[in-house]
Amino acid sequence: MKILIVGNGGREHALVWKASLSPLVDKIYCTPGNPGTAELAENIDIAVEDIEALADFSLKNRIDLTIVGPEVPLTLGIVDRFEERGLAIFGPSKLGAELEGSKVFSKNFMKKYGIPTAASEIFVSADKAKEYIKSVNLPLVIKADGLAAGKGVVICHKIEEAFEAVDTILLDRQFGSAGDKILVEQFLDGVEVSFMVLSDGQDFIPLVTAKDHKPVYDGNKGPNTGGLGAYAPSPTVTPELMKKIIERVIRPTIDGLASEGRLYRGVIYAGLMICDGEPVVLEYNCRFGDPETQPIMFKMKGDIIPPMVKIAAHQSIKGLDIEWHEGYTVCIVMASGGYPGAYEKGKVISGLDDVGGGVVFQAGTKLSGKNIVTNGGRVLGVTSRGATLAEASDNAYKIVSKISWDGLHYRRDIGR
Ligand code: AMP
Ligand code: GLY
Repeated sequence: MKILIVGNGGREHALVWKASLSPLVDKIYCTPGNPGTAELAENIDIAVEDIEALADFSLKNRIDLTIVGPEVPLTLGIVDRFEERGLAIFGPSKLGAELEGSKVFSKNFMKKYGIPTAASEIFVSADKAKEYIKSVNLPLVIKADGLAAGKGVVICHKIEEAFEAVDTILLDRQFGSAGDKILVEQFLDGVEVSFMVLSDGQDFIPLVTAKDHKPVYDGNKGPNTGGLGAYAPSPTVTPELMKKIIERVIRPTIDGLASEGRLYRGVIYAGLMICDGEPVVLEYNCRFGDPETQPIMFKMKGDIIPPMVKIAAHQSIKGLDIEWHEGYTVCIVMASGGYPGAYEKGKVISGLDDVGGGVVFQAGTKLSGKNIVTNGGRVLGVTSRGATLAEASDNAYKIVSKISWDGLHYRRDIGR
């Protein structure tokens, strides 16, 4: 079959890599892709938001299955449009994607269905938000309602920081209409876990758990990034906790969405904080996580295509399962100097041809003549495995040490 993967990050390279191992797949296209996906797929230069052009391409090239990486096309309704045009696509409808597209919607949804989540209040007025902030304890978390490319969540330890975040979102309109409303949320202390399932709207297949590392510096210091490393599985999630997550979060989420007329086909990603052994939802995503997908795909032994084909065909995945390799997988993200702040592009990357024992998933890269050069903040996701987390981490860092470019930085403590 012919597959189209939409996106150009490390997550999409990992999906292309995994799809390329499936005996069901003859040909992969990636739009727009990156130099890493180009090794396994044919890159086609169509933007992820250009839904009509993507559908035209899929019809013309008789694509059997489209898999969508990023959230933006999902919240714009790519799945609805593809289905209207008779195309099979894996992902939630526009209504389903609102789970990520609006934090106000997802917070109200969780309250309605009794899904554990941090206490929070919704505001459209900066003055009212500040009045409320004065009356509660710090730290607290301010969140823009809509999509903000991972920049719409601010953890505030001081009241001035909270006021500034309110002003930036509601008054300065840094995120445009994504900041029409904000949530002022209780800060939760605990261990974060990324938990993803493939859902057909009724039944689901859990993927292995993963741990993302958002802050830029070792020891979880500094500002948040899109994620500078991840490993799978998360040792925090015992079988007992897994049972709680499924019963209290996943089951009511899928059932709640179905009863709201938002039947959910695709990946549900629950961003969880484990507080004293109890799962609490920080956020939902309507797609695979990045960088979690890199170690998750590397750990997956079975084929991911069959459940995706069934889900896209609106068939049941009941009874299907996915097999996993033993041990742990670790992905270390190598980033441009300055990221998550301003950074330069176009630095020549060396050492990419000698990466035995793992895979280097490319993200912010570009071909320049014969060289692969940096072209984004998160540049590479160096992924390896081991019998223990420490061994997987050592193996990944061995590969990292062979790769270089001017100004690169990465965390030294992923999986350690
Ligand atoms: P979100 O996009 O909502 O997942 O937020 C991004 C990151 O901010 C999360 O991965 C957490 O690290 C952090 N975060 C979000 N909400 C909270 C909260 N209520 N308490 C503590 N940290 C949070
Ligand atoms: N790694 C977090 C995310 O994909 O949103």
